[in-house]
Amino acid sequence: MPVRQGKVRDIYDFGDKLLFIASDRISAFDWVLPDGIPDKGRVLTQVSRFWFDRLDVTNHVLSLDPTTLPLPDGTNADSLQGRSMVVRKTEVVPIECVVRGYLAGSGWKEYQADRTVCGIALPDGLVQADQLPEPIFTPATKAETGHDENISFEETCSQIGQELASKLRDISIGIYTQASEFARERGIILADTKFEFGLDGDEIVLIDEVLTPDSSRYWPADRYEPGQSPFSYDKQFVRDWLETTDWDKNSPPPDMPDEIAAKTRAKYIEAFELLTDETFPWK
Ligand SMILES: Nc1ncnc2c1ncn2[C@@H]1O[C@H](COP(=O)(O)OP(=O)(O)O)[C@@H](O)[C@H]1O
Ligand SMILES: [Mg+2]
Repeated sequence: MPVRQGKVRDIYDFGDKLLFIASDRISAFDWVLPDGIPDKGRVLTQVSRFWFDRLDVTNHVLSLDPTTLPLPDGTNADSLQGRSMVVRKTEVVPIECVVRGYLAGSGWKEYQADRTVCGIALPDGLVQADQLPEPIFTPATKAETGHDENISFEETCSQIGQELASKLRDISIGIYTQASEFARERGIILADTKFEFGLDGDEIVLIDEVLTPDSSRYWPADRYEPGQSPFSYDKQFVRDWLETTDWDKNSPPPDMPDEIAAKTRAKYIEAFELLTDETFPWK
C-alpha cells in the first residue's frame, strides 16, 4: 500500500528517501476522472527529469530507477518504468511558490475584479492571457484539503521568515525566467508554474515535480492570441469533451471515450518532444 496517495501520484516512504510513482490519473474541474491518459505519468516524470537536469538549483532527485529500493510485494517493476522518481526526503516549506508571467486562471479573474493579481497592482488595459510586464511571485499556502489560498508576500514572510521568503521568491523567479526563455525558443509559452521547496538542514532544495503540465500552464505559441482563452496542451480535449456531456461538475465525472484519451495522450507526447527535443521512449 502506498503511504500516501495524492490526486495523481503515489508516494512510498523509505525513511530518508521517498519514491514517487506518477500514475496516469488526470483531473479536470477539480475532479479526478475515472479514466486515465495512458503514459501521462511517464510524460510528467520525464518532463520533471528534463528540467531538474537543466536547472542550476539543488534538487531532490536521487534516481529514476525504482529497483534500487525494496519495493512492496506484488509491485510490477516494469509498470513503474519511466514513472518513478526516488528523492531525498526534506522538510517541506509549507508554501506553494507560484510564478506568473501571463494573465490566466485565478489571476485573470482577480485582475478583472480589481486590477491586481494576488494583491500585486498591475497596469490597466490588460486582456486575458496577456503577458505581464514582468514575472510576479504569487505564493499560496499548501492546503491539506481543498484549494490552496493565495497569500501576500508579507504574509509569506510572517509564516516562514523574511530571509527564507526572499530567497524562495528570487530562486522561483529565476527558474521561471530561465525555463520560460528556453520553452519560448521551442515554440511553447510557459504562462505560469508552481514550485515547492524543502530544507535539508540549511540547504534549500527544489522538490516535488517541476515544470510539468500538472504544475504549470504551457501554451502552444503558434495558437497564442491575447484576449482569447488559450489552448491548453494537456486539458483542452478533456475539458471540451466534458462540456459536451450533461455532467454537472458536482457528481462523479463520466467515462472518457477512447478517442479523447488518445488525442490527449498524443498532445502530452507532442509537448514533451517539442520541449525536450527527445523522442518519447514509450510511444
Ligand atoms: N523531497 C521531498 N521531501 C518531502 N516531501 C516532499 C518531497 N517532494 C515532494 N514532497 C511532498 O510530497 C507531497 C506530494 O503530494 P502530491 O502527489 O502533490 O499530492 P496532492 O494531490 O496532495 O498534491 C506534497 O505534499 C509535497 O510537498
Ligand atoms: Mg501536489
